Amino acid sequence: MDTIFNRHSVRQYDGRPVESEKIEKLIKAGMAAPTAGNQREWEFIIVTDNDLKAKVAASSPYSGCAKDAGVQIIVCGDTNRLRFPDCMHADLGAVCENILLEAVHLDLDGVWLAFAPYEDRMRPLINLFALPDNIIPFAVLSIGYAKSKKREDGRDYDMSRVHTNGF
Ligand SMILES: Cc1cc2nc3c(=O)[nH]c(=O)nc-3n(C[C@H](O)[C@H](O)[C@H](O)COP(=O)(O)O)c2cc1C
Repeated sequence: MDTIFNRHSVRQYDGRPVESEKIEKLIKAGMAAPTAGNQREWEFIIVTDNDLKAKVAASSPYSGCAKDAGVQIIVCGDTNRLRFPDCMHADLGAVCENILLEAVHLDLDGVWLAFAPYEDRMRPLINLFALPDNIIPFAVLSIGYAKSKKREDGRDYDMSRVHTNGF
């Protein structure tokens, strides 16, 4: 549970690469996420090359921080595997959260960068990686060793939005 409460979005990294053993653990954490009907539609693109990282980072107006990530993980969905198409975004969201939590567990930090359903953000990634029509780039996870370990304390928990036995 500490991992959950220690996770925060981190957009500045110290420049160290992320070890391949850790990348494998991140991917395994993503694959361990629940999916509707166990459809497991995920595909992952791991980006460690600096030129590619810069291009990925430039693909959305809100993903510039990914340029300096130790690793980028592009979480994709394969529409050919969908039995419950309406659940794809929920499934892939669970994949992303699993990876971000595993990152904290491995002394890494990161941030979820939105791509799907925004066509203008997805298109540059589709072109860059020559993705086939059935592969949807859902999100980019920008992960690395945090530049600063300073974390915000004290989240705002709002118990007025919790409803027991009725709304
Ligand atoms: C679906 C989703 C999309 C997001 N997209 C972006 C994004 O494009 N760029 C970005 O810098 N942060 C993005 N974030 C991170 C949020 O801004 C961040 O999670 C939120 O401000 C709460 O901060 P915390 O993660 O530190 O708790 C996204 C988060 C989610 C869940």
